[in-house]
Amino acid sequence: MSTDSNGPTLEQLREQARHCTACPLYQHATQTVFGVGSASSHVMLIGETPGDREDIEGLPFVGPAGALLDRALCDAGIDRRDCYVTNAVKHFKWEPRGERRLHKTPAQREMSACRRWLLGEIAALHPRLLICLGATAAQAIFGPSFRVTRARGQLLDSPLGVHAIATVHPSAVLRGPSPEERERSYQAFVADLVSARAALMSLGGARRAPAGPRTRGAAR
Ligand code: URA
Repeated sequence: MSTDSNGPTLEQLREQARHCTACPLYQHATQTVFGVGSASSHVMLIGETPGDREDIEGLPFVGPAGALLDRALCDAGIDRRDCYVTNAVKHFKWEPRGERRLHKTPAQREMSACRRWLLGEIAALHPRLLICLGATAAQAIFGPSFRVTRARGQLLDSPLGVHAIATVHPSAVLRGPSPEERERSYQAFVADLVSARAALMSLGGARRAPAGPRTRGAAR
């Protein structure tokens, strides 16, 4: 991707995105949940869309999926403080289910409407590596025919000119049908993040010396 050093900064984008009405999702969301992290991060983690907690707090990955992501990053030797964390879609999409707001997967038109913010974040940050968490994030970067199952954990050249690795979404780990399956899927998720850390080092983007992988186990 051609980066534009005269383009908007992350702060400017965040402010503009607060007022985004490019798709109807803003009507039922509490607020825009823009990315967070240091403007000098070399790695950008991309999720799908904010969940219930994120919608309330205005920050990405602060709910149950975020807690699992934090554990997995730690077990992979990646410090979340070294990452810029964002989502492909910046407003919570949900439907009522009793008292609860149930997450819904964003549609292609909502991803397209939100794409300018994701591209703006990438252009402003110039990350060396994108880590796509789940199909929505991976398809936002590689296009709708991309399948995470076929290429997970592999360092790929993205069409945006930035290296990228795709893995599963942490919610998919949490949804595993049994403790054994959750553990297996958690370990595979950590293995993908370990590959991402190795890729980042090869790209000259690793920061603090990692504490080293810990194996504290899966979705608890
Ligand atoms: N799931 C996501 O994809 N992003 C978040 O911020 C929270 C849950």
